[in-house]
Amino acid sequence: MPPLLAVLARDPLVCGRVVRVASRLGLEALQVRVASGEASETAPAGLLVELELDGAIDALTRWRAAHPQLVIVAFLSTPESALWHEGESAGADLVTTRGRADRELARLVTDHLSGARRSRRVRLAPEQDFAGRLGFVGKVEETPVGPVSVFHIAGKLTALVDTCPHAGASLCEGELDGDIITCPRHGSQFRVTDGERVRGPADEAAVSIRTVIEAGDVFLEFEAGPQR
Ligand code: FES
Repeated sequence: MPPLLAVLARDPLVCGRVVRVASRLGLEALQVRVASGEASETAPAGLLVELELDGAIDALTRWRAAHPQLVIVAFLSTPESALWHEGESAGADLVTTRGRADRELARLVTDHLSGARRSRRVRLAPEQDFAGRLGFVGKVEETPVGPVSVFHIAGKLTALVDTCPHAGASLCEGELDGDIITCPRHGSQFRVTDGERVRGPADEAAVSIRTVIEAGDVFLEFEAGPQR
């Protein structure tokens, strides 16, 4: 029996598209019962979740707990930010819109089956929200690696894990001069565009996080496993 592509969704258009994705990838599409959303014992190749269904967040949480390596894509018909964030926190590798759901699922499952490195995205905000704002532009408290600070420098959005590698101070509370931030506790300096250590006492670089702009939205992208 071919590996499965599980679908926890009712949207007929999206379900039809997933059946076509499954057939293209040589997988069998499996409709998961929405009422229970119980995770199967054997991990499928991927799971698509319609977040607006009742119980979808709980089901997503159960699937993630049962299968930590499973590719999970969740989608919304309307980009409602609280639910979007809940989906990310519940363990979706990616939350996207209804129109992109099948393509994103195909992309991530294809990468997964080919052994490519896994990544997980957290949506920040529309790109236009950052227009005209320069320097430190915000801190995201909840990500897979803890708080992350975002900077807008020379027309580019960059991000660092906010925790200083020396003794854990919040880097965004330090002073930013050009693209160099000085830790407020002991004065280590880091370049915010790539995390490089410019001055100690820290003997390690800060951890840089990739930013991705797609369809007008800005995402933080986290690799599965350590961020260095
Ligand atoms: S905590 Fe940042 S330099 Fe010590």
